[in-house]
Amino acid sequence: MDCAKGIAVVAGTGRPIEEFEGVDRIDRPGPPLLCVPTTAGSSADVSQFAILSSPGRRLKFAIISKSIVPDVSLLDPDLLCTLPPRLTGSTGLDALTHAVEAYVSTGASPITDLFALSAIRRLATFLPLAVQHPGNAVYRNETMLASLEAGLAFSNASLGAVHALAHSLGGYLDIPHGICNAILLEQVVHCNFPYAADRYRAVSAAFGLEVWQQSSEVVCAALVDRISSFRRILGVDQTLADCGLTPEDIPVLTKNALLDPCMATNPRVPDEEMVRRCYERAL
Ligand SMILES: [Fe+2]
Repeated sequence: MDCAKGIAVVAGTGRPIEEFEGVDRIDRPGPPLLCVPTTAGSSADVSQFAILSSPGRRLKFAIISKSIVPDVSLLDPDLLCTLPPRLTGSTGLDALTHAVEAYVSTGASPITDLFALSAIRRLATFLPLAVQHPGNAVYRNETMLASLEAGLAFSNASLGAVHALAHSLGGYLDIPHGICNAILLEQVVHCNFPYAADRYRAVSAAFGLEVWQQSSEVVCAALVDRISSFRRILGVDQTLADCGLTPEDIPVLTKNALLDPCMATNPRVPDEEMVRRCYERAL
């Protein structure tokens, strides 16, 4: 779907795609865009984002523009019933990351909050069930709805450091986007938590954790632990070292992540040390 968005931009403008990297750079509409998602995760069918690989620069870059919100999005959960468990898990964890990042984003609003929390609740219950019972259309429908909700949330509230780090990492080592997010989410929650503690408390509650009588330290540790165990039961149990990352790669990844437009709405103003620490802890 992101590829289709890129093709639409080039068809509409006649210019190279990399000229449109960043926010609001498209000045001419493309042809009508109709999207039919076959995973419940990227939410590209409702978002104003396109993430494209630049093999020459070894990174993934973001194009963010209302011009690439699809004109029509057709959601059919039957199309998910042949999705393998591993892909169901990693794409669903991308949707979870969208919802969490949209909720703690500095661009969040009461409307995006509704969608984000609903997506987290739905994924906490139904994503493991969809992995265990791939042919069950009811579970698939719930994950597709969660992806839609997460997409409506993040397309309006934007994202944060998990996606900035994931774009840098995924383009450098060609690791699937959902896997990058799944491994990095717990590390970014750990680093961000003190800067948006009330927001992460609500995320924890949506995830089914008991939070209201607990200190911030206890809630933070419980949420990190919950995310970590959740991804493992979905089959994403690797470290970044397992994916081929070495300590020598971290400086260039850190530099690229700090330039990613998703950093603009992270609840903690990111610095080089924070980004580096997240990569190191995920090794
Ligand atoms: Fe994503």
